[in-house]
Amino acid sequence: MKVLGLNGWTERGHDGGASLIVDGKLVFSIEEEKLICKRHAYDTIPKESIKECLKSQNLSLDDIDRFVFGWDFEKIYEMLGKKFISKEEMSKALFDDKKYADKLDYLDHHQAHAYSTFIPSNYDEALVFVIDGQGEYMGTSLFLANRKTNEMKLLMETPISLGYFYAGITQQIGFRGGEEGKTMGLASYGKPVYLNELRKLISFDEQEDIKCAFHIDKVSKDEEDASLEKWKELLSEFIPKREGKIIEVTEEIMPYADLAMSAQKILEEIMTGIIRKYVKETGVHNVCLAGGVALNCPTSSAVERMEEVDKVFVQPAANDGGISLGAAIKGSIDLGETPVIEMIPYQGPEYSQKEIEKALKEKEYDYEIYDDIEKVIAKLISEGKIVANFQGRLELGPRALGNRSLLASPEKYESLVRMNTLKGREVWRPLAPAVMYDKQTTCFDSDIFSPHMTKNFNVLNEMKNRLEAITHVDGTARIQSVTKEYNELFYKIIDEFYQITKIPVLINTSFNVKGEPIVCTPEEAIDSFERMNLDYMSIGKCLIKRKQ
Ligand SMILES: [Fe+2]
Repeated sequence: MKVLGLNGWTERGHDGGASLIVDGKLVFSIEEEKLICKRHAYDTIPKESIKECLKSQNLSLDDIDRFVFGWDFEKIYEMLGKKFISKEEMSKALFDDKKYADKLDYLDHHQAHAYSTFIPSNYDEALVFVIDGQGEYMGTSLFLANRKTNEMKLLMETPISLGYFYAGITQQIGFRGGEEGKTMGLASYGKPVYLNELRKLISFDEQEDIKCAFHIDKVSKDEEDASLEKWKELLSEFIPKREGKIIEVTEEIMPYADLAMSAQKILEEIMTGIIRKYVKETGVHNVCLAGGVALNCPTSSAVERMEEVDKVFVQPAANDGGISLGAAIKGSIDLGETPVIEMIPYQGPEYSQKEIEKALKEKEYDYEIYDDIEKVIAKLISEGKIVANFQGRLELGPRALGNRSLLASPEKYESLVRMNTLKGREVWRPLAPAVMYDKQTTCFDSDIFSPHMTKNFNVLNEMKNRLEAITHVDGTARIQSVTKEYNELFYKIIDEFYQITKIPVLINTSFNVKGEPIVCTPEEAIDSFERMNLDYMSIGKCLIKRKQ
């Protein structure tokens, strides 16, 4: 059976995409933003993603047995007292043809998140925690999932949104919507001095799960704006809203770093509180996380450290970029299949050596071809160069995990400054390391496998002066554990670097120009390489140098 999962619409649409499951196996998944080169692909139908999914398997729409859309628009409209367009019209909008209406299903948004993380976790049973801005009408939900019975039982749901809370904090600091990652980075500079003030506004509550000073339960597409307005009003009672960029973390900024740290602690208290309560109630000790807030690494690491919790799986595309995957999984289950999804995030398009060389020739690049390109890359990095690495299949999710990455040595603080400057990022923001998993404990205080860069660990004291560029101000790093099985070439690159320097770590940050999504095609890679004025790029087996 062939199932196409979908996300992305002209209203409330962001981070759309498509995923294709064939006979219970995930064969392709991509976010629309990477194909149309527009971050988050707001209010866009995922037409290019659909095309790419079909092209990858030489299929046509007629070959697809089921289409599942990861939002239940009929439910939203019903609650608004309106009627959503018919399935025929929806089919026409998505596929330019009405004839697929009978094969089209809608899936509750939080359920799509839940399936996207539970099935790839491969746990038999788990508590599945979905934390995002807002689903059809809920902000936070918790399910008890069972693989054998295929049950996804709702244990808790509330319209209170931790996503909007964190977005409110982000805007109070003066960052823009979508810059929650900056708040997370800034938090490490601060102390939780506003914890008590924040607890009065939002906190874990044994009876209600989350207690909030306000909640909006009326469904409205303006709900996000209304929540943000309310948070601004409440937060402004003890700290004024800041305006403008944060170039440096100065004394003047410290209260905002403290606010960010206080918000981290609140998030941690609520999430661990809820999980503790439901572990006790169900006796289930494994946890799966999804929803944009699950990308908050210190918090998911705090969940992992809980005594009551055995294992934690974080979906790499925890944001709405993973919705099409969850929708496809549910479609496959509904067709009687038992999808087994190995969550290898390299699910996008790849390009042949021939296609790569054609693109390089068109741009008039001289290139060298190497069969052992990993050695060449490692040597350049060990000499202090930044190398753009374009290899294999594109990653799913917001993090580049080696295939569309900028790589550099983690040794000196200057690397952090150079890399952040190149990417147009503030210098105070941390960069993440990729580490050979078999040598992880020689640098970090945990042997937990973190292949998707979703967990934070402490850098060992004795390694801090050798890992200056990736040790954040609080001594932690958001690591990517790399194994040969997961990404052979990337592992080899780090290994070659290790042979030269005895450091099994590289800086790994996404290959994209500021404000743009991660590059997808060789042409985009070459174009970004030029615009970022990079020195070297390894692309397939080719190495190119900046034109003089
Ligand atoms: Fe979501």
